[in-house]
Amino acid sequence: MTALRHLDEYATSAHYSGSGHVRRDAERRSVTVDATFSLRSEVRLVDDVFDPATPDLAGVYLPAGRCVAIVDATVDRLHGRALRAYFAAHGIPLTTMVCRALEEDKVLGTVCRMAAFLGGDGCDLARGEPVLVVGGGVLTDTAGLACSLLNRRTPYVMIGTSVVSAVDAGPSPRTCVNGTLMKNALGAYHPPVLTLVDRALFRTLAPEHLRHGVAEIVKMAAVDDEALFTLLQRHGRALLDTRFATTGDDPELAGIADEVLFRSLHAYLRHEGANMFETRQDRPHAYGHTWSPKFEPVAGLLHGHAVAVEMAFTATLATLVGWLDVDGRDALLAVCRDLGLAVHHPVIEDLELMRAAQETVRRKRGGSALWAVAPRGGLGRCDYLAEVEHRLLAEAVGRHRALCGGFPGGGRGVGMYLRDARWT
Ligand SMILES: NC(=O)c1ccc[n+]([C@@H]2O[C@H](COP(=O)([O-])OP(=O)(O)OC[C@H]3O[C@@H](n4cnc5c(N)ncnc54)[C@H](O)[C@@H]3O)[C@@H](O)[C@H]2O)c1
Repeated sequence: MTALRHLDEYATSAHYSGSGHVRRDAERRSVTVDATFSLRSEVRLVDDVFDPATPDLAGVYLPAGRCVAIVDATVDRLHGRALRAYFAAHGIPLTTMVCRALEEDKVLGTVCRMAAFLGGDGCDLARGEPVLVVGGGVLTDTAGLACSLLNRRTPYVMIGTSVVSAVDAGPSPRTCVNGTLMKNALGAYHPPVLTLVDRALFRTLAPEHLRHGVAEIVKMAAVDDEALFTLLQRHGRALLDTRFATTGDDPELAGIADEVLFRSLHAYLRHEGANMFETRQDRPHAYGHTWSPKFEPVAGLLHGHAVAVEMAFTATLATLVGWLDVDGRDALLAVCRDLGLAVHHPVIEDLELMRAAQETVRRKRGGSALWAVAPRGGLGRCDYLAEVEHRLLAEAVGRHRALCGGFPGGGRGVGMYLRDARWT
């Protein structure tokens, strides 16, 4: 047996390392390699990321000698001047590609344009040079995928400018574009080396984008962090109304906003970080993501509302299998409704679609079981349903429809539809 050892002086990137063990059999007919790859991915809460006095970006790009960035067009319009002023103040040359990033842009064509910009159109990045990605979840997913393809793996730093990209899509290793029938179907595992979260950027988010992003925080609270759930019960609405304490002057609420973001990120990374390449199925952060990848595009829902509908439906299902009492279910639905998140949509009454979603996801998850996440033993804890057979599915859908029928609007959310649903 011979060992290939990683030697620092030969490193191709400061951000990644790897090693391999190579064995050959005695008959000299086969050679086997066991290889490992390792990376470090940090998520950091910062205040006023584009204030020249804030050192984080300069800390990365001064040593690099320049910054090549891909920026969401809306974010560029609102924050581009501050971004450019930051790099100018530090004397760091900045080259940007400003990119429209609507859900309909989440396609391979967008990724190819980004890769052409990074690789050929004047930038020609070194394989260890971190790209800067500034935007919401769509830009995160597409630019992250472009970085994974360029030089087969190019590091990137993420500034998550929306709630979704700050707490979930930004630090996520799942870069992707949509398939024709299923969201996020094509992609690569390629997390950012650093994600900067600055809630001051949420001040300019449209209310519907702010609201649907909070669904990802509710998700982590419901399956992993009861204390976070309590914070959302008490302060969720105020955080929404003040755009995470960025309007008005309430230092106590600002502290709560930071605590909510930190707890959500920590809960997320505790599971995601320990299973970066999805080599295991026990993924609490997949709560709300078993049926929704199928019904979200069909209904044209904003992602967070689709996740919230599934979370609420699964809570009803959990009461039927004895995993959750009705108080737990009602507490979850109450938090969602208080935040204006959908808890029901007629699309889930299409049992054929729901069954097809199960089939697709079961196949994707290896075929052995469904691995549908549901709260178990109270909120803040979860388990995995191996199967949801048709009779149980139908009963849960019926019960959930009846339950939500008693709510004003039948459990619909506020501003729950995608405005650019043309990709569906
Ligand atoms: N990869 C993952 O693990 C993962 C996880 C969750 C969600 N997602 C994906 O994320 C996407 C949703 O993310 P999203 O809500 O950020 O959507 P988005 O990227 O479409 O952003 C929503 C809108 O807000 C704008 N925007 C972003 N930041 C802004 C700011 N600071 N001020 C004003 N406007 C701003 C964008 O231009 C866009 O118009 C979906 O495609 C979803 O599938 C991916």
